[in-house]
Amino acid sequence: MKGLSHKIFTAFLFSLVILTTLTIWIRNQDYYLLPLQERAFYPRYDQLKPSGIESHGYGIIGTAMVFIGVITYSTRKRVKRFLQVGKIRDFLEFHIFMCLLGPVLILYHTTLKFGGVAGAGFWCMSAVVASGVVGRYLYRHIPKNIEGKELTSKELDDERSRLLQALKEKYQLSDTVVESLDALHAPKPDTMNAGLLRLFSRMLVTDLAHTQRMHSLRLLLEKNNVDKSSIREIAHIADKRIVLQQRILLLEKIRGVFHYWHVIHLPFSLIVLAILIVHVGVAVAFGYTWIW
Ligand code: HEM
Ligand code: HEM
Repeated sequence: MKGLSHKIFTAFLFSLVILTTLTIWIRNQDYYLLPLQERAFYPRYDQLKPSGIESHGYGIIGTAMVFIGVITYSTRKRVKRFLQVGKIRDFLEFHIFMCLLGPVLILYHTTLKFGGVAGAGFWCMSAVVASGVVGRYLYRHIPKNIEGKELTSKELDDERSRLLQALKEKYQLSDTVVESLDALHAPKPDTMNAGLLRLFSRMLVTDLAHTQRMHSLRLLLEKNNVDKSSIREIAHIADKRIVLQQRILLLEKIRGVFHYWHVIHLPFSLIVLAILIVHVGVAVAFGYTWIW
C-alpha cells in the first residue's frame, strides 16, 4: 500500500477500534458501573453477565480476533511460502488492529469483573497489549527497506551521504552551511551510552521536535541567504540527515532493547493461551456454550 492510502487505511482501522469501544460503553455503561451485588437486578442482566448471550459473544469474537491477528502475522513472518505475500508492515498493522480490538471486546466480556484464573489471564493479556504499544514504537525506529528487511548502519550511512550529495550538488550549499545545519541539532555526545529511560526520552524528543527543528533549520538557511524557493526542501533533507544520524547512533541499542522486548510480548502471549485453554475448558464443561 502506498504512503497516503496506507495512512488512511490505518486511520480507518484505528477509528474502528475507538468507535466500537465507545459504542459498547455507551450502550452498557449503566450495567458496568453498577456495584456487583446489584447487577443481578438489572433488566438486561441475563444478556450482560459474562456468560450472557451478549458478553459471552464479546469474549468469543474478541478471542477469535486475537487468534486471527497473531496467526496471520506469524505465518507471513515465518512461513517461507508466504514471505512474498503483501508487505510485512501491512500484516503488522492488521495484527495490531485485531489485537487491540479483540482485547477491548474481551474487556467487555469480563464486564469489568476480574476474578479467579480468568482475571489473571486478563491482566496477562493487558501486559501483552501494553508491551505491544512499546514494541510498535521501537519497531518503527529500526529502519527497514520496502520488503521489511532491516537496514544496516552502513546502509544508513550511505543514505546520509546520498542526502549530503544532494545538498551540495542540487542546492549548491557550501561545506560551512552544511556543517552548521548538521551541528544545529547534533545528537548529544553521550547518546550511545544512554540508559533505557534516556534512550526512550531521546527517541521521543527527536520525534516530537520535528516542527521546532524545521523552524530553526529554516532560520539558519535564511540567515545564510539561501534561495527562498528551496528553503523548505533543503530543511526537509537536513532534518532527515539529523534523524538518520540519531538512528545510526541508537540502532544497536534499540535492536538490543527490542530483542528483550520479545521476552515480555511472546511468553506472556503463551501464558494467556494456557489460561485461556483452562478457562474455556471449564466454561464448556459447565455448559456455557453460547449459541450452540
Ligand atoms: C483471553 C480471553 C478471555 C479472557 C481474558 C476472559 C476473562 C474472563 C473473566 C475475567 C471473566 C469473569 C470472571 C469473574 O466472574 O470474575 C470471564 C467469565 C467467563 N468467560 Fe471468559 N475470558 C476470555 C475468553 C473467553 C472465551 C473464548 C469464552 C468462551 C467459551 C469465555 C467464557 C466465559 C464464561 C462462560 C464466563 C462466565 C463464567 C461464570 O459466570 O461462572 N471466556 N472471562
Ligand atoms: C492480546 C494481544 C496480543 C497478542 C496475543 C500478541 C501476540 C504476538 C505474537 C505471538 C507476536 C510474535 C509473532 C511472531 O514473531 O511470530 C507478536 C508480534 C508483535 N506484536 Fe503483538 N500481540 C498482541 C497485541 C499487540 C499490540 C496491541 C501491539 C501494538 C500496539 C503489538 C505489537 C507487536 C509487534 C510490533 C510485533 C512484531 C515483533 C516482531 O516481528 O519482531 N501486539 N505479537
